[in-house]
Amino acid sequence: VYGATELVTGPAAATTGGDHPGGDGAPAIPDAVLERIEDGAVAIADGEVVAVGPTEDVVRKYPPENAADAVDASGKTVLPGFVDSHTHAVFAGDRSDEFAAKLRGKPYQEILADGGGILRTVRATRDASEATLLENLLERLDTMLASGATTVEVKSGYGLETETERKLLEVVERADDEHPIRLVPTFMGAHAVPEAAETTADYVDRVIEEQLPAVADHAVFCDVFCEEDVFSVADSRRVLEAGREHGLEPKIHAEEFAHLGGSQLAADLNAVSADHLLQATDEDAAALADAGVTPTLLPGTAFALETAYADPRRFLAAGSEIAIATDFNPNCYAPGMEFAATLACVGMGLSPAESIRAGTYGGGIALGANHPQIDAVPGDCGTLREGGPGDLLVLDAPSHAHVPYRFGDSVVEHAFVAGDRAYA
Ligand code: NIG
Ligand code: FE
Repeated sequence: VYGATELVTGPAAATTGGDHPGGDGAPAIPDAVLERIEDGAVAIADGEVVAVGPTEDVVRKYPPENAADAVDASGKTVLPGFVDSHTHAVFAGDRSDEFAAKLRGKPYQEILADGGGILRTVRATRDASEATLLENLLERLDTMLASGATTVEVKSGYGLETETERKLLEVVERADDEHPIRLVPTFMGAHAVPEAAETTADYVDRVIEEQLPAVADHAVFCDVFCEEDVFSVADSRRVLEAGREHGLEPKIHAEEFAHLGGSQLAADLNAVSADHLLQATDEDAAALADAGVTPTLLPGTAFALETAYADPRRFLAAGSEIAIATDFNPNCYAPGMEFAATLACVGMGLSPAESIRAGTYGGGIALGANHPQIDAVPGDCGTLREGGPGDLLVLDAPSHAHVPYRFGDSVVEHAFVAGDRAYA
């Protein structure tokens, strides 16, 4: 890919300021958020980036006429593929009527308490065949790819018993074989307490004693919904510690509706990420930053719930690298990373460059890229650096800012995953 008007390679060294355009729309000062090359090119071989830099330099060594698949990106932008580090994309059923109920003022947690919400998706998912679940997932992945996601994490959690939890993770495995997107499976048996469970403690026992041993080989991470009336901090600790004993690194849904202490738990366990964080405090932000836990913000969820957004400045000020992700699920039916970037800007106040960084590099870090103990994704996933994966987007737009700026359609023209043309 050569001749790109703008080529984003990854994060710039500093984390704040400097990306505000001058009067004519051109950057007034060097970008402190994204490292960018004007008239840039990238060469990929065997799935990995082998050269990235000014077109002149790259094409001297890798002439486009010798490439199996060369793209002239003049007038266009090249970005690392988006890394959507938090989705619940494997499920069956329809909850569009709950959207209408929410608009009439019925809160999400009340819907769940009445046996709707997650529990309703669980019923539909248990009844669905593997073929239906796979077909649903593959279709959603097509939409995600068309909006630039080249790596996507997918959680189980709509089975809530061993057989269906395993079925979901096996479907993710099959989709990973059949679809160009790189998938990362997460076990989330502790997503809700099923109606049949006597008590939460009994269910947590079952997650730990029955589900975990049966699914651990099919997942990389273990996640838990740490929330009032769902799983307490103590329950969550039990699940995540047991997950780790089975080799699954912890992730957590923390401080979404109530401020319960999930962030402090995440810090204590050195979880790879803590997600949602709408109610997190400055102390939580400091604890996450100190422990190297990636704050993962999900603006689509706040949008769908019509609640206040998480405050990204809190985490950036504490020194964290933040991620944004879609949280695609039946309650937040927004599979596109481009729209997540728009909401991150409009709803959470990120700059366009910050939203791109959080959706690429940040997402990679939230999946353990460059983490010595985690090999869920290749090192440098979410960047375009030599030795990193050849995952990139060609945008039909002159700069990265067009991603959040234009919403309701996509600016993604081509997507490559590990050097293979995956889209258009
Ligand atoms: O991250 N909060 C818990 N889990 C999902 C919602 C899942 C659902 O409503 O089906 C979330 O928002
Ligand atoms: Fe979630």
